[in-house]
Amino acid sequence: MLKTKDILDEKNKLLRTISEEVKFPLTDKDKETIQLMVEYLTNSQIDELATKYNLRPGMGMAAIQLGIKKRYIVIVHEIEEEVFNTYVVINPKIVSSSEEKIYVEDGEGCLSVNRETIGIVPRCARVTVEGFNIDGEKIKIRAREELAIVFQHEIDHLNGILFTDHIDNKNPFKYKDLYRAI
Ligand code: NI
Repeated sequence: MLKTKDILDEKNKLLRTISEEVKFPLTDKDKETIQLMVEYLTNSQIDELATKYNLRPGMGMAAIQLGIKKRYIVIVHEIEEEVFNTYVVINPKIVSSSEEKIYVEDGEGCLSVNRETIGIVPRCARVTVEGFNIDGEKIKIRAREELAIVFQHEIDHLNGILFTDHIDNKNPFKYKDLYRAI
């Protein structure tokens, strides 16, 4: 079982590296890691389990957050009370995105950023992501709103980018009225 302390903190330089394309078939180790990521993210969004196992709630995780320099991400999206859609995408790529921009009103969060942050992170309201499932089959996902933001956030991780990089420190709320809050 993954523990919160297994997730790298933003101070760790590995989070700034560009992850490498994954070749198929996946190794047993990567399959196992993916299972652990799914389990962590799911449990972390169930209050009782999050408390029991001391998990920080999170919707998404990239392999590099566990120190693995490979291009895969896991997203566990709660669609209704404790009902989750799980996305595992290997070599994900954003193939199209909306002009419209949105941002999380309460601010974005990240399992690797263990401090309060303020400011707006502009994100595309809709994205289409292509990649592969664990069996190496091509998949395409259309995501909007919160889910679209999580995909952009996780794919950023594969390129060494953290959400805090998108915040304008001199004027953290400059996009407040320009873009739509969700
Ligand atoms: Ni993150």
